[in-house]
Amino acid sequence: MSQVLVVGSINMDLVVHVAQFPRLGETLFGQSFATYHGGKGANQAVAAARLGAQVTMIGRVGDDAFGQELIAALADEGINTEWLCQSKNQATGIAAITLTGSDNAIIVVPGANADLSPADLLAAEAAFINADVVLAQLESPMATIEMAAQLAARHNKPFILNPAPAMPLSKALLAQVSLLTPNEYELAAALALPEADWRASLAAHPGQVLMTAGQDGAYYTNPQGELQQQTSFKVTAVDTTGAGDTFNGALAAFWHLGLAQASKMACAAGALSVTQAGAQGGMPTLAQLQAFLAANDAKELV
Ligand code: RIB
Ligand code: NA
Repeated sequence: MSQVLVVGSINMDLVVHVAQFPRLGETLFGQSFATYHGGKGANQAVAAARLGAQVTMIGRVGDDAFGQELIAALADEGINTEWLCQSKNQATGIAAITLTGSDNAIIVVPGANADLSPADLLAAEAAFINADVVLAQLESPMATIEMAAQLAARHNKPFILNPAPAMPLSKALLAQVSLLTPNEYELAAALALPEADWRASLAAHPGQVLMTAGQDGAYYTNPQGELQQQTSFKVTAVDTTGAGDTFNGALAAFWHLGLAQASKMACAAGALSVTQAGAQGGMPTLAQLQAFLAANDAKELV
């Protein structure tokens, strides 16, 4: 199985269920509260590890109870945690997530994630040398993401960038990305384009941009210039938090299979992830993913 290096964020997700979002100044009773392990980096690392990849993560938490719990949980998933650091003067990152039946609203407070520095990555250069593929997101400082791209390039490793949350990316960074995996909104932000242009953006970057589209699956343009769609899988959604992260972790784990096969596995893994609460709840093991795909193929034959 492949060696996946994830550079990114680690958060504790504080999740409240409500019937409807409160208006400004309004106080509402919520229906439930729970904490879940999250952060886009950690979620993607866990998704890849469950699918059998050898995962190493570079990230930061605070010197607090959340931080200890999150590092222990990553180690329990079989992830190499030797490059995780605890910041003394910052709290562990959190995400305050409000869920209604159909929607979510998320506030991320980066805390120690904001301390993840280019120097942290240089100190962990051995991890880049050992990796088959490097995966990052945008919940870490931009200079750190840029260093991840540079180190991946220096050691000739494919660099997958999930440009979430949405923000513009420099031309220099884009030039070092092997595959960009935005949703439609993030694609427009990353390339600083009008949103309507996603087909043209995909056509302009054959094999280099894969756009996730929720229930419509994923789109990319192949090297022959043809638009490809990987359709999604039907499931009953309980919590869509982390579906994109599951997709990205799976894509990195199955990178060696090529984009067509890897994106099919990633869509299936993402679908399974939304069937359970919490960003990491529902992320499948390899056996669970294979069983799900076999059951789906059987359904198609009927
Ligand atoms: O992508 C989902 C993640 O985004 C959550 O786990 C939360 O921590 C936020 O970072
Ligand atoms: Na889930």
